[in-house]
Amino acid sequence: MTEAGGSASGPGVPAGRLVVLVSGSGSNLQALLDAGLPVVAVVSNRRQAYALERAAAHDVATEVVSLKSFTDTGRTRRDFDAHVADVVAAHRPDYVVLAGWMHLLSSAFLDRFPDRVVNLHPALPGSFPGAHALQDAFDAYREGRITETGVMVHLVPDEGVDNGPVLATVTVPIEPGDSLESLTERVHAAEHRLLVATVRGLLDELLARP
Ligand code: GRF
Repeated sequence: MTEAGGSASGPGVPAGRLVVLVSGSGSNLQALLDAGLPVVAVVSNRRQAYALERAAAHDVATEVVSLKSFTDTGRTRRDFDAHVADVVAAHRPDYVVLAGWMHLLSSAFLDRFPDRVVNLHPALPGSFPGAHALQDAFDAYREGRITETGVMVHLVPDEGVDNGPVLATVTVPIEPGDSLESLTERVHAAEHRLLVATVRGLLDELLARP
């Protein structure tokens, strides 16, 4: 999919095109930008997302999509997902990165980007899916059920929540003195490193393909 001359590449920027989907603060987006990875557009389903400001500060194109504008006019979630796919496809991504994107995408989106949608989740494979993974892991630690948690980056083939072929994981030990806040901070730092390394690896692989 990478086209010669058609990427965000410049001196020191790896070739390729990333579209990043966000809903919130965008600290993971920031990590991708700071690492010089070729983010060509950022799409948010929340107009107030701070991630949009981070993108604009790096002169990256931004788009806002609104589920409500679809449901208010009698259209379905699948219609919305197809619209998001159109918005994303217009930027010709090699990979679509879900970095704090808080909307479950249906096949109306996913089938448009097979093997090209990458999700980041603050838990290890098979544990603590959903939006409260960090709280759930911390509770499990306090109940003596786990001693460590972690982060994973995985492909999103279907509508399973935080589930799909695993690209990379890293464990994060939980310390006796940890609060939810200190654990959250450590997990987020691990996320930033793992996401950058994994996406960089995917782009390198793409370039190495004959
Ligand atoms: C991250 O923990 C991500 O794994 C989860 O939502 C959080 C987003 O953080 N899905 P940010 O917006 O990148 O700061």
